Order: sequence, then C-alpha cells, then structure tokens
Amino acid sequence: TKTKTRFPQNFLWGGATAANQMEGGFHEGNKGLNIADVLPGGKQRLNILSEPGFDFEIDKDQYSYPNHEGIDFYHKYKEDIALFAEMGFKSFRLSIAWTRIFPNGDEEEPNEEGLAFYDRVFDELNKHGIEPVVTISHYEMPLNLVKHYGGWRSREVITFFERYVHAIFNRYKDKVKYWMTFNEINSGLMMPIMGLGFSIQKEEDKYQPTFQAFHHQFVASSLAVKACHEIIPDAKIGCMIIFAPVYAYDSNPENQLHALQEERLFNYYCADVQVRGEYSPFMKRYFEKHDIELDIQDGDLELLKENTVDYIAFSYYMSRTEKKQKTADDQVKGNIMSGVKNPFLEASDWGWEIDPTGLRISLNKLYERYQVPLFVVENGLGAYDEMEEDGSINDDYRIDYLREHIKAMRSAIDEDGVEMMGYTSWGCIDLVSASTGEMSKRYGYIYVDKHDDGSGSLERSRKKSFYWYKNVIESNGEEL
Ligand code: BG6
Repeated sequence: TKTKTRFPQNFLWGGATAANQMEGGFHEGNKGLNIADVLPGGKQRLNILSEPGFDFEIDKDQYSYPNHEGIDFYHKYKEDIALFAEMGFKSFRLSIAWTRIFPNGDEEEPNEEGLAFYDRVFDELNKHGIEPVVTISHYEMPLNLVKHYGGWRSREVITFFERYVHAIFNRYKDKVKYWMTFNEINSGLMMPIMGLGFSIQKEEDKYQPTFQAFHHQFVASSLAVKACHEIIPDAKIGCMIIFAPVYAYDSNPENQLHALQEERLFNYYCADVQVRGEYSPFMKRYFEKHDIELDIQDGDLELLKENTVDYIAFSYYMSRTEKKQKTADDQVKGNIMSGVKNPFLEASDWGWEIDPTGLRISLNKLYERYQVPLFVVENGLGAYDEMEEDGSINDDYRIDYLREHIKAMRSAIDEDGVEMMGYTSWGCIDLVSASTGEMSKRYGYIYVDKHDDGSGSLERSRKKSFYWYKNVIESNGEEL
C-alpha cells in the first residue's frame, strides 16, 4: 500500500516580506538611505529598472516614493505579528534593512538603534512561536555604497558586507536559525539596479561589469555562509533565486535548445555556484563567448567550493515560454521576464502567467539537480482587491491561485519525492510592489488601507483568504 507522506509535521508555513517594502520609517532610528528609497512609485519604476543610466537621486517634484512610509511596519509590527499568529504562522520571512545596521554601509561600528529594532521584532515573533526567516540583503544596498563604490562592481563592498553579516549573526544568534543571503540573486541579470547595486551606463557593454559584480556577490555570500556556520552552528543558511521554468514554445529542436540554454543561464547559473560551489562548464564557455574576463583572486574558488549553502530558497510566480525567433507581437506584455505568450495559460492583471504545474516542475528540476532541501519563500497573486460596504474583502481569485500552487507542492512531495522545508507566500500583508512601486498590486491575507496616491488610514483588515490560509496551516495542508 502507498504511504501518504504529504507535508512534514515541522513544515514552515508562513508569509514573506521585505524591509524596504513595508517598514517605512525610512529616516527613523538613524537609518541611512538605500536603493529602494530612491525608486519612485508607479509603472515608470519598471522602465527605470530595465533601462540604463539611472542616477539614484530623489526627485520629489516629479515622483512619489511609497517605500518611505511603506505600511509602517516599523511602528505597527506588534499588531501585524499578532495577526500572523492568529493565522497560525510557523514562520515569517523578513529582511533586515542593511542601512538600519550600517546607515552608510562603510562605518566601522553598527548602529545600535537599528540592531535594537530587530531585537524587538524577533522577540515578538518568538513570543508567538513564529520562526524568523531572515533575508540578509533584499534589494536594500546602502546608497552610499552605490554612489561611492559602484555597488557590487567594487570588490571593497565584500568587506562591508562581511562586517554587516558578522554584526547580525553575533547579535541574533540565539533568535534566528534560518537565513538566506541575497534575495533573487539571479534577478541581477534583468535588473542590475536592484540586484547588483548599479546602473549600466548608457554606452557601456553590460557583460563585464555584470558578471564581475556577480562574482563579488558569490564571494560575499560564501563568506556569509562560513560566518553563519561558525557563529550559529545550529542555523541553516540558503541561497535565494527566482525560478521560472523555461518551456520551449513547441517541439522544434531549435526552440528546445534555446529554452535549455536560457534555463542554464537564468535558473542555474547562480545556484550552481552557491550550491555546488563552482561555475558550470556552460558558464565558462559563456564568459569566453562574451569576452568576459573575471577577476578571480587567490582563494576565491576554494572559498566558493568550501562554503556552499544548506538549502535552496526560491520565488515562484510564473513559468516562461521561449522560442528562438520571436517578434514583438509574441512577447508577453507587462511581464518582467522576457518570453512569448503561452497559449495554455492565463495571466494576472500584470501579465504574469499563472502556472501551478510549473511550480511542481520547478521543484522537480531543482531537486533532481541539487538534492538539497527546497524552501518556497515567495509565491502569490498580485491583484486588485475591493472592500465591500460591510468591510469584507472576498478575494476568491487569490485563494484559487494559492490552492492550486499548494496542491502542486503537495504532489511534488507526495508523488515525486521532493524534500521541502516550508512555504512562505509573498506579501502576506499588503505592501509596496517591488517592480512597480504600487500599493494596488496586492498579495496579502491582510488588507492595508493605503492607496497608490499615498492616502489611507493604514488600518489592517482580514481578507477572506486570511481565514482560508489559517485553516490550511491548521490542517497542515490537508484542507485546501
Ligand atoms: C520578487 C521580490 O521579485 O517578487 C519581491 O523578491 C517582490 O520583492 C515580489 O515584491 C513580487 O513582485 P512585485 O513586483 O509584484 O512586487
């Protein structure tokens, strides 16, 4: 007879966020400015992120800056954590804002007020039995490092990052047992501003600086893994990638090959280094092909090899479909990923194609290749929500989306034998969108009364999905 494995008893159900998208308090507690603080709200943000030549200045005459206030988690964290506890969260993913700990990034000593803030947050979580899952760097590089060092272009930034991770590991070693280094590290291939901390210059060839910056990040990540294992031996530290399985548009072998190569670059390049500890043969050829000469210093390769991650965390929102020869008409509209429209899939209001089976495929691909535990740390539907007159928010579309994705994980565990640690859906409380700076692109179980024009009381309310997710957790994924 078949044994039912299903979700393990200690499965880390929860929700995920990032400091810059929810904390607000952007000047409070001596916090310094970071990249997200200079990114304007609205769909123009997407253009800024994908075009060269951004100057990293605040221009209040032209733009608004929704991240500055976020949803004011900085002051409301107790109330929010109580709501997470009410849903039965086992874990809560958040990032530490680097600039609360080192406001300019290059100071010698950390900022006590910033350290104390996260002590309060972690204590509150632990009080409710919620395990903090911490992203060390989530698109939040100190602006000073961007402006004066060129972000990850500079090798010097590794030293500042090392100082930062030592400060937080030493301070929180008794409170935080789950860590991950760089959020969606491979996003630097599409959006260097957020991921790598610099903008490609208008006339510049992107290849050399991009892959050199990645190398610096890999070294920094390995140093963080090393420090974490030394300072908190019972902790687990992972890498964090965007995973979007790449499908060939059809059975034309040329398209199949193209999809395979896209996948090697986008999905596996970073994970190969962080999980296997080395650059893949494919990437070495890729560097040659694009005249990229990496400055790899003595000891770097040994460091990468000896300090690989304990698990893979990844975000999953959509799959991607590719063909070798594509026209502008084939292109998926509104999406941050390139690719062509998949005739079998519907898309969200933002053009993100909805594909629960793609999550099962992703889990299989990753587990087959690496055989380390997997943690889905982002997944969810960005949608417009409406509050009814009686104050209810009936987000059945979100429930449908999440239900199908959770089923896909269940099948991956139950039928395919994949090892999973947990699931933290993205934006468990409404927050500012990373790609468009909008509030109206909502992901939460908890509604926040704040709008794109900055108005709103910031009051929190429970959506229909809140009660649904509570029951999912209570039944350990049996009742969907
Ligand atoms: C991921 C990021 O890319 O997707 C998050 O790690 C982000 O920061 C999330 O918010 C959803 O994207 P968006 O653009 O809808 O906020």
